[in-house]
Amino acid sequence: MSRLLVTGGAGFIGSNFVHHVLGNTGHSVTVLDKLTYAGNLHSLDGLDPARFTFVQGDIADAELVDGLFADHDAVVHYAAESHNDNSLNDPRPFLDTNIIGTYTLLEAARKHGTRFHHISTDEVYGDLELDDPERFTENTPYNPSSPYSSTKAGSDLLVRAWVRSFGVQATITNCSNNYGPYQHVEKFIPRQITNVLRGERPKLYGKGENVRDWIHADDHSAAVLTVLDKGVIGETYLIGADGEKTNKDVVEEILEYLGQPRDAYDLVTDRAGHDLRYAIDSTKLRTELGWAPRFSDFSAGLANTIDWYRENEAWWAPSKAGVEEFYAAKGQ
Ligand code: NAD
Ligand code: DAU
Repeated sequence: MSRLLVTGGAGFIGSNFVHHVLGNTGHSVTVLDKLTYAGNLHSLDGLDPARFTFVQGDIADAELVDGLFADHDAVVHYAAESHNDNSLNDPRPFLDTNIIGTYTLLEAARKHGTRFHHISTDEVYGDLELDDPERFTENTPYNPSSPYSSTKAGSDLLVRAWVRSFGVQATITNCSNNYGPYQHVEKFIPRQITNVLRGERPKLYGKGENVRDWIHADDHSAAVLTVLDKGVIGETYLIGADGEKTNKDVVEEILEYLGQPRDAYDLVTDRAGHDLRYAIDSTKLRTELGWAPRFSDFSAGLANTIDWYRENEAWWAPSKAGVEEFYAAKGQ
């Protein structure tokens, strides 16, 4: 039984991990989260107060972080500014949280000898051509495109340096695009679902040809727990569930499930520097640590996700108008 500190645990994937840990292990969890626009305490509703504590604060606050590391056995680091479109608008918070915040945590891990797991993204590898037979592996060179992905790449490199130079007990995972309940409506799938639920048309960037490799957030959480338990210190593991889809395919599925014509979407201004395709080869994680995804049927997972947004408007409605104003100002 361990005491886990989870940074960014009020966000989409972090909150999924907290529910997963409390439901499947005997560990206790403390969440450290700044509650930016992306954090939502309701994503943590229903947790056992005997095993769960919430602390509001910034991962770049060295004094706060030092005290928390002293009281925990392991840290799982999800906190980040996570949205590419925001990073194109105002990169600064991405540097503060993703770089300085991660640095602050690593210094505490170094001082206290704390086991540290760093959550990262496949976007650090840049993008692939649509017809490239190769997928990303742990050996693919870093080549990030956006302010978001370059700060995540920077944070990964800090972790690697702190392992090698200071002996920090860290592992890294780089995961593909997550979907599931509790994802902020700024992101692609929730934005399109909630548009259709509100009687608005989905908005596809460019021609909708870009490909993302979708994984259910529950599968991501199970993979992270596997690496925390069995991962080799200093190693990186890629997490993916063979879920490649064009954005257009995803939008058409959402429209069809909600009883609309499959072509009832708008093509809008493309994202600057828009990565074409991501694709993960997760052989290392599967063969060396024995993880496998449980959600192999994307359509079924998407249908469950659509149902969740239909039934939980109170969770997402407060963010919807502001998000749409942001996009409208950019012609998106
Ligand atoms: P999110 O934006 O939904 O949540 C981020 C959380 O971090 C929020 O609760 C926010 O309040 C908190 N936070 C932000 N800055 C903070 C700070 N300075 N101090 C403390 N807390 C802070 O993000 P997400 O989609 O859940 O992503 C979580 C992590 O997973 C990120 O590191 C992201 O890079 C990574 N990741 C995401 C995906 C994806 O598809 N969403 C895929 C792979 C990796
Ligand atoms: O690959 C992992 C990454 O996935 C994570 O590191 C990021 O935190 C996460 O946000 C996600 O990044 P993307 O940029 O791929 O996700 P997003 O949901 O913003 O967009 C998914 C795709 O859909 C992308 O090709 C852009 C496109 N898109 C997005 C929006 C919001 C649209 O076509 N229309 C939209 O309205």
